[in-house]
Amino acid sequence: MSATESSASTTSMLQENRLFPPPAEFAKDAHISSLEQYEQLHQRSIDEPEAFWAEVAEGLHWFKKWEKVLDWDLPDAKWFVGGQTNLAYNCLDRQIDDGLGDKVALVFEGELVDDNGQPEVVKYTYAELKREVCRFANVLKAQGVRKGDVVTIYMGMIPQLAIAMLACARIGAPHAIIFGGFSAQAICDRVEDGKSKIVVTADGSWRRGKPVPLKKNVDDALEMTKLVEKVIVYQRCKNDVTMKDGRDQWWHDLEKDASDDCPAEPMDSEDLAFILYTSGSTGKPKGIMHTTGGYLVHTTMTSKYTFDLKPDDPDEMYWCTADIGWITGHSYIVYGILPNRVPTLMYEGGPNFPAEDRFWDIIERHKVTKFYTAPTAIRTFMKWGDEHIDKHDLSSLKLLGTVGEPINPEAWMWYREKIGGNRCPIVDTWWQTETGGHMLTPMPGATPTTPGSCCRPMLGIDAAVVNSEGEEVGTNEGGILVIRKPWPSMLRGIYGDRQRFIETYWEKVPGMYCPADGARKDENGNFWITGRIDDVILVAGHNIGTMEVESALVSHDSVAEAAVVGFPHEVKGNGVAAYVILRVPMPAPGSDDAKALQKELIQHVGKELGPVAKPDQVRLTEALPKTRSGKIMRRLLRDIAAGNDITSDTSTLEDRTIVDKLVAQGG
Ligand code: WTA
Repeated sequence: MSATESSASTTSMLQENRLFPPPAEFAKDAHISSLEQYEQLHQRSIDEPEAFWAEVAEGLHWFKKWEKVLDWDLPDAKWFVGGQTNLAYNCLDRQIDDGLGDKVALVFEGELVDDNGQPEVVKYTYAELKREVCRFANVLKAQGVRKGDVVTIYMGMIPQLAIAMLACARIGAPHAIIFGGFSAQAICDRVEDGKSKIVVTADGSWRRGKPVPLKKNVDDALEMTKLVEKVIVYQRCKNDVTMKDGRDQWWHDLEKDASDDCPAEPMDSEDLAFILYTSGSTGKPKGIMHTTGGYLVHTTMTSKYTFDLKPDDPDEMYWCTADIGWITGHSYIVYGILPNRVPTLMYEGGPNFPAEDRFWDIIERHKVTKFYTAPTAIRTFMKWGDEHIDKHDLSSLKLLGTVGEPINPEAWMWYREKIGGNRCPIVDTWWQTETGGHMLTPMPGATPTTPGSCCRPMLGIDAAVVNSEGEEVGTNEGGILVIRKPWPSMLRGIYGDRQRFIETYWEKVPGMYCPADGARKDENGNFWITGRIDDVILVAGHNIGTMEVESALVSHDSVAEAAVVGFPHEVKGNGVAAYVILRVPMPAPGSDDAKALQKELIQHVGKELGPVAKPDQVRLTEALPKTRSGKIMRRLLRDIAAGNDITSDTSTLEDRTIVDKLVAQGG
């Protein structure tokens, strides 16, 4: 499939050329306050990358300074070679060393509210957070965790999740965090892939007023794998859980006698910091590996510039609504934000609990200044109606950000007007689990923005739109997005799968990093992401591999074959459509039996992969539209799912009546 025919995009290909200069009031005090300044800085960062990155790195704490900034042997990068540092030290101790121990580092808001409508709010200073992190680090050590051991973390959005990850970082145990919305099967697969012997979880986590049964999911997963020897359980919701003797222990019991002194382990720059799984084109999720030094430097630098973070502004309050189970939470709730010395806010639960105005209520009460969320959330808020927003004073906001998928210009304009009061710059940040940090984004005080475009390359990033030979294409011509030079937070590999790493990222366009996104560059030099060019569907900003859903469907007793495609969805960006051939006699389309089976298959995928992957449409069919050479015509399946007229050429189809039957059946 070529980049331009990608289905995954909601970005309009209509020429969108409204240009909004950075608000003058904002630009005045911004770290980068003019386009000219950005262009100069960017040019220098490309011409002299090593000098540029070394200067950034010098602002952080190193136990031992690097000997060489970059060692590049395509596709293997080593950054800050010979240097030693520690992520947790830079997130916590460095601030304490500089006399900021009493400054608020983390603000937590729980989901439940009391009778007066007040939620649980807990604030941690750098010193307090360090104490908690040290205590839990000592717990991990006492449980036998050593430098290099992979610790699986499966928790909700509570401070203990950040504490657990920082504790791992402190002792050099790479964490593998699994999003709390994933299923038992997903936990099992990841534990086995990472060969992890210990899981940190919680009894539950509040979501729309109910506990998510985290511990139960872990129990189910551990029925399927014998690898895990120890489970540490934080008590959050006090929901019923079963504790298995000899395997499961309560966090609070283990912590009783733990010392709050635990020196940070000096880590080599290239020591593994964490693994984070993301979906790919083939069935098995990829364990993306990030290392210590480069990841720290890149996430800290990008946080500072993209969000224009101001440590000296006592009012600064940054809130990213992502879950820490995704890369956005890793980089822009924890690792990139804490070293910047501004409070990071963490919210436990759903956006509509107890009511649809919860986010605006949070912004008003905590006086949030910088707000970072996903286009799918913005579209949901638009749908819920402006009355929820009008009730709240959002005047503390100074900057808005988006991430995860293309934002349609309509949602961008709404965000700017209704949430940002036309005074806040919007940073539409393009990046990936694999890139570790921001790659394309406006600089809020410098870049004129156009709704729907993620604008310009980040400092230090050499991005281009090319054809499959690696040659740059012309203005507004569609092509493949590539990164031509290494950057510090780039993935160092796929855990345990060297070949897949090379094939997935380095062979599509020889010599360049290929993220598998289509793009074009407009006459102002702004980049537009046009959608995935592989078999990944972006559903509400989550990457769903079509093969993963197909495998999940085929694992159901009644299913013989399945084909899964994406189709445009008003709120989620894309929906998942599944075409299923049964092993059992096919019930009549529209009958109760057919409906029951469709529902069952949707639930089955939810159970196998987690709720985010549930198909929006399931069509039962006797056959799939295939070419005479036996290839499934996915383009047709996408058109059918989208309800489009079938205009594409069907002359190569083996049997056209299949298409007519599928169309007649409806979604
Ligand atoms: C998509 C999330 C358009 C893209 C940080 C990418 C975007 C994938 C944007 C990575 C954006 C992310 N505009 N598309 N601003 N941000 N994407 O690994 O397709 O969960 O390759 O990382 O999301 O998703 P991931």
